[in-house]
Amino acid sequence: MTPTITLVRGDITRQSADAIVNAANSSLLGGGGVDGAIHRRGGPEILAACRDLRASRYGKGLPTGRAAATTAGRLDARWVIHTVGPVYQGPGSDASLLASCYRESLRVADELGARTVAFPAVSAGAYGWPMDDAARIAVETVRATETAVEEVRFVLFDERAFTAFAAYVDASR
Ligand code: AR6
Repeated sequence: MTPTITLVRGDITRQSADAIVNAANSSLLGGGGVDGAIHRRGGPEILAACRDLRASRYGKGLPTGRAAATTAGRLDARWVIHTVGPVYQGPGSDASLLASCYRESLRVADELGARTVAFPAVSAGAYGWPMDDAARIAVETVRATETAVEEVRFVLFDERAFTAFAAYVDASR
């Protein structure tokens, strides 16, 4: 099965979903944007779980394009799935790494048994990926991924992001 895609404009930390995805960095130790918001609102339990992941499985950090789960702390979700998007390097940037973030996050969601998963626009903020291209990669990848996840909800922070995602979701309906 492939999931139903829904679009919401808003703050991902306020979503009720089985899992919400964090646009993290390799250190897993926090940052700005979505990452900062998730740690702020979710509380210190998430950071503690991230430190455990670093100590147990990812001593050198979580590689770009991979995903790993922790508790969601005080958030209204069961899990946070942390993924590391690629930094945009200009035209010719490796889109497969960004696609991998979505595929790997859904694979981890399947391992957890999550049925609803909320994603932000990974790499489209501090990491500089052009929103339109980031939206296309996100939607195409989710549509092509076999998973038991029933709903993928893209949670877009502003109108520009929402419009970019809507163009691809509507076009492929
Ligand atoms: N809910 C939903 N979307 C959000 C939220 C929110 N609360 N806050 C920001 N966005 P970014 P990246 C949007 O920078 O590009 C961090 O410092 C934002 O407008 O969060 O993958 C990490 O630690 C943009 O459209 O993630 C890394 O170092 C999108 O989410 C680095 O930034 C992604 O923006 C990762 O950069």
